[in-house]
Amino acid sequence: MNENSIRVRCAPGLETIVARELDKLSLKSTPGGAGELLLHGPMELVPILNRHLGSALRVEIELARFTAKKLPELERKLTRQVPWRDWFSRELPLAIRAKSKKSRIYHSGAIKERALSASKQPLLSEPLEHAGAELRIEAKNDEFALWLDTTGAPLHRRGYRLESTKAPLREDLAFALLELLGDSAKGEPLLDPMCGSGTLAIEHIWRSLGYLPGAHRTFRFQLFKPFSDYRPDAIHKPSTSEVVSYGSDRNRGAIAAAQKNAQRAGVHASLHFAESALKSSPWWKEAKIVACNPPWGHRVSKNKDLRPLYQSLAEKVSTRRFAVASANRKAIASMGVDFAQRHRIGFNGVDVELASTEPSQAVEKGPTLSR
Ligand SMILES: C[S@@+](CC[C@H](N)C(=O)[O-])C[C@H]1O[C@@H](n2cnc3c(N)ncnc32)[C@H](O)[C@@H]1O
Repeated sequence: MNENSIRVRCAPGLETIVARELDKLSLKSTPGGAGELLLHGPMELVPILNRHLGSALRVEIELARFTAKKLPELERKLTRQVPWRDWFSRELPLAIRAKSKKSRIYHSGAIKERALSASKQPLLSEPLEHAGAELRIEAKNDEFALWLDTTGAPLHRRGYRLESTKAPLREDLAFALLELLGDSAKGEPLLDPMCGSGTLAIEHIWRSLGYLPGAHRTFRFQLFKPFSDYRPDAIHKPSTSEVVSYGSDRNRGAIAAAQKNAQRAGVHASLHFAESALKSSPWWKEAKIVACNPPWGHRVSKNKDLRPLYQSLAEKVSTRRFAVASANRKAIASMGVDFAQRHRIGFNGVDVELASTEPSQAVEKGPTLSR
Protein backbone atom coordinates (compact mmCIF):
# COMPACT_ATOMS: atom_id res chain seq x y z
CA MET A 1 0.00 0.00 0.00
CA ASN A 2 1.30 3.49 -0.87
CA GLU A 3 2.42 5.53 2.10
CA ASN A 4 1.77 9.26 2.13
CA SER A 5 3.09 12.02 4.36
CA ILE A 6 0.21 13.60 6.20
CA ARG A 7 0.26 16.75 8.32
CA VAL A 8 -2.33 17.47 10.99
CA ARG A 9 -2.58 21.10 12.06
CA CYS A 10 -4.00 22.36 15.35
CA ALA A 11 -3.89 25.41 17.61
CA PRO A 12 -0.34 25.80 18.97
CA GLY A 13 -0.19 24.10 22.36
CA LEU A 14 -2.71 21.39 21.50
CA GLU A 15 -0.12 19.07 19.88
CA THR A 16 0.05 16.60 22.77
CA ILE A 17 -3.74 16.37 22.93
CA VAL A 18 -4.02 15.76 19.17
CA ALA A 19 -1.18 13.20 19.42
CA ARG A 20 -3.21 11.45 22.11
CA GLU A 21 -6.25 11.39 19.83
CA LEU A 22 -4.06 9.88 17.09
CA ASP A 23 -2.69 7.37 19.56
CA LYS A 24 -6.24 6.26 20.33
CA LEU A 25 -6.68 5.61 16.60
CA SER A 26 -3.47 3.52 16.80
CA LEU A 27 -1.63 6.11 14.67
CA LYS A 28 1.93 7.13 15.52
CA SER A 29 2.77 10.78 14.93
CA THR A 30 5.86 12.93 15.31
CA PRO A 31 5.90 16.63 16.18
CA GLY A 32 6.27 19.06 13.26
CA GLY A 33 6.43 22.84 13.75
CA ALA A 34 4.21 24.69 16.23
CA GLY A 35 0.66 23.41 15.81
CA GLU A 36 1.72 20.54 13.52
CA LEU A 37 1.93 16.75 13.75
CA LEU A 38 3.33 14.52 11.03
CA LEU A 39 2.40 10.94 10.19
CA HIS A 40 2.66 8.46 7.37
CA GLY A 41 -0.03 6.23 6.06
CA PRO A 42 -2.33 5.21 3.24
CA MET A 43 -4.62 7.67 1.49
CA GLU A 44 -7.59 6.09 3.33
CA LEU A 45 -6.45 7.94 6.45
CA VAL A 46 -7.56 11.28 4.98
CA PRO A 47 -11.32 10.78 5.54
CA ILE A 48 -10.70 8.99 8.82
CA LEU A 49 -8.61 11.82 10.28
CA ASN A 50 -10.98 14.51 9.07
CA ARG A 51 -13.96 12.78 10.62
CA HIS A 52 -12.40 11.55 13.87
CA LEU A 53 -10.16 14.35 15.14
CA GLY A 54 -11.90 16.70 17.56
CA SER A 55 -9.05 18.95 18.68
CA ALA A 56 -7.36 19.44 15.28
CA LEU A 57 -8.05 22.12 12.68
CA ARG A 58 -6.87 20.73 9.36
CA VAL A 59 -5.44 17.67 7.59
CA GLU A 60 -3.01 18.10 4.70
CA ILE A 61 -1.39 15.59 2.38
CA GLU A 62 2.04 16.01 0.81
CA LEU A 63 1.82 15.96 -3.00
CA ALA A 64 5.56 16.26 -3.65
CA ARG A 65 8.89 17.16 -2.09
CA PHE A 66 12.04 18.06 -4.02
CA THR A 67 14.99 20.45 -4.03
CA ALA A 68 15.23 23.30 -6.53
CA LYS A 69 17.82 26.06 -6.60
CA LYS A 70 16.87 27.94 -9.75
CA LEU A 71 13.53 28.82 -11.33
CA PRO A 72 13.93 26.58 -14.45
CA GLU A 73 14.65 23.61 -12.16
CA LEU A 74 11.58 24.50 -10.07
CA GLU A 75 9.41 24.75 -13.21
CA ARG A 76 10.66 21.36 -14.47
CA LYS A 77 10.08 19.61 -11.14
CA LEU A 78 6.67 21.22 -10.64
CA THR A 79 5.66 19.87 -14.04
CA ARG A 80 7.18 16.38 -13.79
CA GLN A 81 7.16 15.49 -10.09
CA VAL A 82 3.76 16.71 -8.93
CA PRO A 83 0.92 14.28 -9.71
CA TRP A 84 -1.56 17.05 -10.67
CA ARG A 85 -3.65 14.87 -12.97
CA ASP A 86 -4.03 12.14 -10.32
CA TRP A 87 -5.70 14.66 -8.01
CA PHE A 88 -7.53 17.31 -9.97
CA SER A 89 -10.05 17.37 -12.71
CA ARG A 90 -9.29 20.28 -15.06
CA GLU A 91 -12.18 22.44 -13.85
CA LEU A 92 -11.15 22.56 -10.19
CA PRO A 93 -9.82 26.05 -9.36
CA LEU A 94 -6.65 26.13 -7.29
CA ALA A 95 -5.53 28.66 -4.65
CA ILE A 96 -1.83 28.62 -3.84
CA ARG A 97 0.02 30.04 -0.85
CA ALA A 98 3.81 30.03 -0.95
CA LYS A 99 6.54 30.86 1.52
CA SER A 100 10.29 30.55 1.25
CA LYS A 101 12.93 30.53 3.98
CA LYS A 102 16.73 30.35 3.57
CA SER A 103 16.30 29.32 -0.09
CA ARG A 104 17.80 30.64 -3.30
CA ILE A 105 14.32 30.91 -4.81
CA TYR A 106 12.76 33.36 -2.40
CA HIS A 107 10.08 35.18 -4.39
CA SER A 108 6.76 33.70 -3.28
CA GLY A 109 4.92 35.33 -6.20
CA ALA A 110 7.21 33.59 -8.70
CA ILE A 111 6.76 30.23 -6.93
CA LYS A 112 2.97 30.56 -7.01
CA GLU A 113 2.94 31.60 -10.64
CA ARG A 114 5.16 28.65 -11.72
CA ALA A 115 3.05 26.20 -9.72
CA LEU A 116 -0.22 27.42 -11.17
CA SER A 117 1.16 27.22 -14.68
CA ALA A 118 2.47 23.63 -14.09
CA SER A 119 -0.86 22.56 -12.61
CA LYS A 120 -2.85 23.83 -15.62
CA GLN A 121 -5.67 24.54 -13.18
CA PRO A 122 -7.70 27.75 -13.20
CA LEU A 123 -6.72 30.25 -10.51
CA LEU A 124 -8.75 30.56 -7.34
CA SER A 125 -7.67 33.93 -6.02
CA GLU A 126 -9.46 33.73 -2.66
CA PRO A 127 -9.32 30.25 -1.10
CA LEU A 128 -12.96 29.39 -0.56
CA GLU A 129 -13.77 26.93 2.15
CA HIS A 130 -15.95 24.55 0.20
CA ALA A 131 -14.89 25.18 -3.37
CA GLY A 132 -11.65 24.61 -5.20
CA ALA A 133 -8.37 23.30 -3.89
CA GLU A 134 -5.80 24.97 -1.69
CA LEU A 135 -2.11 24.20 -1.89
CA ARG A 136 0.64 25.44 0.41
CA ILE A 137 4.14 25.47 -1.01
CA GLU A 138 6.83 25.72 1.62
CA ALA A 139 10.49 26.11 0.69
CA LYS A 140 13.23 25.77 3.29
CA ASN A 141 16.95 25.40 2.57
CA ASP A 142 16.05 24.94 -1.16
CA GLU A 143 13.73 22.01 -0.36
CA PHE A 144 10.15 22.46 -1.58
CA ALA A 145 7.19 20.69 0.03
CA LEU A 146 3.71 20.89 -1.53
CA TRP A 147 0.91 20.35 0.98
CA LEU A 148 -2.65 19.96 -0.28
CA ASP A 149 -5.45 20.87 2.13
CA THR A 150 -8.02 18.07 2.47
CA THR A 151 -10.31 19.76 5.01
CA GLY A 152 -11.83 23.01 3.69
CA ALA A 153 -13.61 24.91 6.49
CA PRO A 154 -11.49 24.23 9.61
CA LEU A 155 -12.40 21.12 11.57
CA HIS A 156 -13.79 23.08 14.51
CA ARG A 157 -16.72 24.01 12.28
CA ARG A 158 -18.73 20.91 13.09
CA GLY A 159 -21.88 22.41 11.58
CA TYR A 160 -24.09 22.68 14.67
CA ARG A 161 -23.01 26.00 16.13
CA LEU A 162 -24.81 28.50 13.97
CA GLU A 163 -26.24 30.43 16.95
CA SER A 164 -23.42 32.27 18.61
CA THR A 165 -23.00 34.31 21.79
CA LYS A 166 -20.52 37.03 22.69
CA ALA A 167 -17.43 34.90 23.37
CA PRO A 168 -18.01 31.27 22.36
CA LEU A 169 -15.31 28.69 23.07
CA ARG A 170 -14.07 27.24 19.81
CA GLU A 171 -15.13 23.62 19.41
CA ASP A 172 -11.57 22.24 19.11
CA LEU A 173 -10.65 23.85 22.46
CA ALA A 174 -13.87 22.58 24.04
CA PHE A 175 -13.11 19.05 22.80
CA ALA A 176 -9.51 19.31 24.08
CA LEU A 177 -10.71 20.47 27.50
CA LEU A 178 -13.00 17.44 27.71
CA GLU A 179 -10.11 15.18 26.62
CA LEU A 180 -8.28 16.40 29.73
CA LEU A 181 -11.06 14.94 31.87
CA GLY A 182 -10.28 11.53 30.37
CA ASP A 183 -12.38 8.91 28.61
CA SER A 184 -13.91 7.83 31.92
CA ALA A 185 -15.80 11.16 31.97
CA LYS A 186 -17.82 10.09 28.92
CA GLY A 187 -21.40 9.33 29.85
CA GLU A 188 -21.18 11.09 33.22
CA PRO A 189 -23.59 13.97 33.94
CA LEU A 190 -21.70 17.18 33.21
CA LEU A 191 -22.65 20.73 34.14
CA ASP A 192 -21.37 23.88 32.46
CA PRO A 193 -22.71 26.64 34.76
CA MET A 194 -21.68 29.44 32.35
CA CYS A 195 -22.56 27.59 29.18
CA GLY A 196 -23.00 30.45 26.68
CA SER A 197 -23.87 28.83 23.34
CA GLY A 198 -23.61 25.34 24.87
CA THR A 199 -20.40 24.16 23.19
CA LEU A 200 -18.92 22.17 26.11
CA ALA A 201 -22.19 20.43 26.95
CA ILE A 202 -22.86 19.54 23.29
CA GLU A 203 -19.30 18.29 22.71
CA HIS A 204 -19.57 16.20 25.89
CA ILE A 205 -22.75 14.51 24.67
CA TRP A 206 -21.24 13.89 21.22
CA ARG A 207 -18.19 12.31 22.83
CA SER A 208 -20.33 10.29 25.21
CA LEU A 209 -22.50 8.94 22.39
CA GLY A 210 -19.54 8.25 20.12
CA TYR A 211 -20.55 10.79 17.44
CA LEU A 212 -17.56 11.64 15.29
CA PRO A 213 -16.69 15.37 15.41
CA GLY A 214 -16.70 15.55 11.60
CA ALA A 215 -19.69 13.30 10.95
CA HIS A 216 -22.12 16.10 10.11
CA ARG A 217 -20.09 18.03 7.52
CA THR A 218 -18.38 17.78 4.17
CA PHE A 219 -14.67 18.11 3.41
CA ARG A 220 -12.51 19.43 0.63
CA PHE A 221 -11.03 15.97 -0.16
CA GLN A 222 -14.43 15.04 -1.59
CA LEU A 223 -13.51 17.22 -4.59
CA PHE A 224 -10.38 15.21 -5.41
CA LYS A 225 -10.08 12.30 -7.84
CA PRO A 226 -8.72 9.70 -5.35
CA PHE A 227 -11.90 10.15 -3.30
CA SER A 228 -14.42 10.29 -6.14
CA ASP A 229 -16.15 7.13 -4.86
CA TYR A 230 -16.07 8.25 -1.20
CA ARG A 231 -19.33 7.59 0.62
CA PRO A 232 -19.24 8.32 4.34
CA ASP A 233 -20.42 5.59 6.68
CA ALA A 234 -23.92 6.31 7.96
CA ILE A 235 -24.01 8.34 11.14
CA HIS A 236 -24.24 6.04 14.10
CA LYS A 237 -27.16 7.26 16.26
CA PRO A 238 -27.32 5.59 19.67
CA SER A 239 -30.20 6.42 21.97
CA THR A 240 -29.69 9.92 23.34
CA SER A 241 -31.75 9.26 26.44
CA GLU A 242 -28.93 7.27 28.04
CA VAL A 243 -26.75 10.33 28.64
CA VAL A 244 -27.85 13.53 30.27
CA SER A 245 -25.97 16.77 30.84
CA TYR A 246 -26.68 20.35 31.83
CA GLY A 247 -25.91 23.94 30.97
CA SER A 248 -26.93 27.17 32.65
CA ASP A 249 -26.11 30.81 32.06
CA ARG A 250 -27.41 34.07 33.46
CA ASN A 251 -27.96 35.37 29.94
CA ARG A 252 -31.32 34.46 28.41
CA GLY A 253 -30.07 34.93 24.83
CA ALA A 254 -27.24 32.47 25.49
CA ILE A 255 -29.69 29.81 26.68
CA ALA A 256 -31.85 30.26 23.58
CA ALA A 257 -28.71 29.91 21.41
CA ALA A 258 -27.55 26.80 23.31
CA GLN A 259 -30.96 25.15 22.84
CA LYS A 260 -30.95 25.78 19.10
CA ASN A 261 -27.38 24.53 18.75
CA ALA A 262 -28.20 21.36 20.72
CA GLN A 263 -31.19 20.76 18.45
CA ARG A 264 -29.02 21.15 15.35
CA ALA A 265 -26.42 18.82 16.88
CA GLY A 266 -29.16 16.21 17.34
CA VAL A 267 -28.65 15.99 21.12
CA HIS A 268 -31.34 18.24 22.58
CA ALA A 269 -33.01 15.22 24.22
CA SER A 270 -29.86 14.71 26.30
CA LEU A 271 -29.35 18.30 27.35
CA HIS A 272 -31.13 20.53 29.85
CA PHE A 273 -30.48 24.25 29.80
CA ALA A 274 -31.67 26.92 32.24
CA GLU A 275 -31.30 30.64 32.69
CA SER A 276 -29.61 30.98 36.04
CA ALA A 277 -26.74 32.61 37.88
CA LEU A 278 -23.75 30.40 38.60
CA LYS A 279 -24.50 29.78 42.28
CA SER A 280 -28.17 28.95 41.78
CA SER A 281 -27.88 26.61 38.80
CA PRO A 282 -30.57 23.96 39.37
CA TRP A 283 -28.20 21.06 38.63
CA TRP A 284 -25.32 21.29 41.05
CA LYS A 285 -26.58 18.16 42.80
CA GLU A 286 -26.80 16.07 39.61
CA ALA A 287 -23.44 17.11 38.19
CA LYS A 288 -20.56 14.65 38.62
CA ILE A 289 -18.32 16.68 36.31
CA VAL A 290 -18.00 20.41 35.79
CA ALA A 291 -16.46 21.90 32.67
CA CYS A 292 -16.55 25.61 32.22
CA ASN A 293 -15.22 28.56 30.27
CA PRO A 294 -15.92 31.59 32.49
CA PRO A 295 -15.49 35.16 31.20
CA TRP A 296 -11.82 36.07 30.73
CA GLY A 297 -12.24 39.83 31.05
CA HIS A 298 -11.49 40.41 27.34
CA ARG A 299 -14.80 40.41 25.48
CA VAL A 300 -17.10 39.51 28.39
CA SER A 301 -16.78 41.41 31.73
CA LYS A 302 -14.02 43.66 30.37
CA ASN A 303 -11.61 45.07 32.98
CA LYS A 304 -13.63 43.58 35.83
CA ASP A 305 -11.91 41.80 38.72
CA LEU A 306 -13.11 38.28 38.00
CA ARG A 307 -11.45 36.59 40.95
CA PRO A 308 -14.64 36.56 43.11
CA LEU A 309 -16.55 34.85 40.26
CA TYR A 310 -13.83 32.20 39.79
CA GLN A 311 -13.69 31.67 43.57
CA SER A 312 -17.47 31.09 43.76
CA LEU A 313 -17.06 28.58 40.93
CA ALA A 314 -14.31 26.78 42.87
CA GLU A 315 -16.55 26.60 45.97
CA LYS A 316 -19.45 25.16 44.00
CA VAL A 317 -17.25 22.66 42.14
CA SER A 318 -15.99 21.33 45.46
CA THR A 319 -14.67 17.78 45.03
CA ARG A 320 -16.17 17.13 41.56
CA ARG A 321 -14.00 16.39 38.55
CA PHE A 322 -13.38 19.78 37.02
CA ALA A 323 -11.89 21.37 33.91
CA VAL A 324 -11.65 25.05 33.08
CA ALA A 325 -10.64 27.07 30.00
CA SER A 326 -9.63 30.67 30.51
CA ALA A 327 -7.07 33.24 29.46
CA ASN A 328 -7.29 34.92 32.87
CA ARG A 329 -4.48 33.19 34.72
CA LYS A 330 -4.75 35.39 37.82
CA ALA A 331 -8.39 34.42 38.19
CA ILE A 332 -7.58 30.72 37.68
CA ALA A 333 -4.81 30.93 40.31
CA SER A 334 -7.21 32.61 42.75
CA MET A 335 -9.42 29.48 42.72
CA GLY A 336 -6.87 27.54 44.76
CA VAL A 337 -7.68 24.35 42.81
CA ASP A 338 -4.94 21.75 42.59
CA PHE A 339 -4.98 21.08 38.84
CA ALA A 340 -3.24 17.89 37.66
CA GLN A 341 -2.95 19.01 34.03
CA ARG A 342 -2.41 22.45 32.51
CA HIS A 343 -1.94 23.32 28.84
CA ARG A 344 -1.32 26.75 27.35
CA ILE A 345 -2.91 27.23 23.91
CA GLY A 346 -2.42 30.02 21.39
CA PHE A 347 -5.86 31.26 20.36
CA ASN A 348 -6.49 34.46 18.37
CA GLY A 349 -3.40 36.14 19.81
CA VAL A 350 -4.09 35.24 23.47
CA ASP A 351 -2.78 32.40 25.62
CA VAL A 352 -5.66 30.29 26.85
CA GLU A 353 -5.11 27.88 29.69
CA LEU A 354 -6.85 24.51 29.70
CA ALA A 355 -6.66 22.99 33.18
CA SER A 356 -8.11 19.81 34.62
CA THR A 357 -8.16 18.18 38.04
CA GLU A 358 -7.83 14.75 36.39
CA PRO A 359 -4.38 13.26 35.85
CA SER A 360 -3.47 12.26 32.30
CA GLN A 361 -4.66 8.70 31.68
CA ALA A 362 -3.21 5.84 29.68
CA VAL A 363 -4.60 5.63 26.15
CA GLU A 364 -7.14 2.91 25.53
CA LYS A 365 -6.84 1.94 21.90
CA GLY A 366 -9.05 0.40 19.35
CA PRO A 367 -12.21 2.18 18.14
CA THR A 368 -13.53 1.00 14.81
CA LEU A 369 -12.42 3.55 12.27
CA SER A 370 -15.31 4.81 10.22
CA ARG A 371 -14.63 6.70 6.99
C1 LIG B 1 -16.87 33.02 27.79
S1 LIG B 1 -18.59 32.90 27.82
C2 LIG B 1 -18.87 31.14 27.68
C3 LIG B 1 -18.92 30.70 26.27
C4 LIG B 1 -19.32 29.29 26.07
N1 LIG B 1 -18.33 28.35 26.55
C5 LIG B 1 -19.62 29.03 24.58
O1 LIG B 1 -18.96 28.18 23.97
O2 LIG B 1 -20.45 29.71 24.01
C6 LIG B 1 -18.95 33.17 29.50
C7 LIG B 1 -20.42 33.06 29.85
O3 LIG B 1 -20.54 33.20 31.26
C8 LIG B 1 -21.78 33.80 31.52
N2 LIG B 1 -21.72 34.34 32.91
C9 LIG B 1 -20.93 35.31 33.39
N3 LIG B 1 -21.12 35.48 34.70
C10 LIG B 1 -22.07 34.59 35.07
C11 LIG B 1 -22.68 34.26 36.31
N4 LIG B 1 -22.39 34.89 37.44
N5 LIG B 1 -23.60 33.27 36.32
C12 LIG B 1 -23.94 32.61 35.19
N6 LIG B 1 -23.39 32.89 33.99
C13 LIG B 1 -22.45 33.86 33.93
C14 LIG B 1 -21.94 34.84 30.44
O4 LIG B 1 -23.30 35.17 30.24
C15 LIG B 1 -21.31 34.11 29.23
O5 LIG B 1 -22.30 33.48 28.44
